[in-house]
Amino acid sequence: MHIEVTHPCVQHKLSLLRDVDTGHTQFRQLAREITQFLCYEALKHVPVAPVTVTTPLAEAACHRIATDIIVVPILRAGVGMLDGVLELVPTARVGFMGLYRDADTKQPVEYYRKLPAARPGALHIVVDPMLATGGSTAETLSILKANGAEQIIVVAIVSCPEGLAAVAEHHDDVPVYVASVDSHLDDRKYIVPGLGDAGDRLFGTR
Ligand code: PRP
Ligand code: URA
Repeated sequence: MHIEVTHPCVQHKLSLLRDVDTGHTQFRQLAREITQFLCYEALKHVPVAPVTVTTPLAEAACHRIATDIIVVPILRAGVGMLDGVLELVPTARVGFMGLYRDADTKQPVEYYRKLPAARPGALHIVVDPMLATGGSTAETLSILKANGAEQIIVVAIVSCPEGLAAVAEHHDDVPVYVASVDSHLDDRKYIVPGLGDAGDRLFGTR
């Protein structure tokens, strides 16, 4: 299942992110801001616990997030979304999955993995700006599940029908929040219209 967040503030920022003339400084800021909006929506149903807080005037019945949250950026471009999640949920733990797409096969190749120990009931948030063939996301979900993860959501910025279908085929229990479902993949498996290579645009490497 995927959820496209069509809020005007998200779509406005996405239009700037896509622009070929947006440089890496602004690209990083936009990616962080869009991530905050997407996670705000994705965490709408996160369990909370009642707490009583003493205000300067009286006692107030309040709620606080009562779930262990683990953010998992897929290296490298997912790092551009990490601060956006941590600003919303500063207490989250962070695990890293290092994957790159093989230039020829376009299949994900793992080169790094550092995940927190599995915690019953913890909510894992996988972040990667691009969900193209879906291979990197699907591989990360398989690894997290093998590591004991019970609840997982994915937050991506740009996706396409092929990638969403590939993720749903193996992980239809995992909701995927996106800012856009674009048209298609091109011959090089890049999302069209997309925004180009997210890692290069975030980190100024090309
Ligand atoms: C990009 C992107 C995703 C992946 C998406 O990473 O950040 O991780 O490709 O493609 P897929 O859905 O077809 O797997 P890339 O491999 O370019 O590595 P990078 O983040 O280090 O640039
Ligand atoms: N990775 C990217 O960074 N962009 C795409 O369009 C596809 C994969």
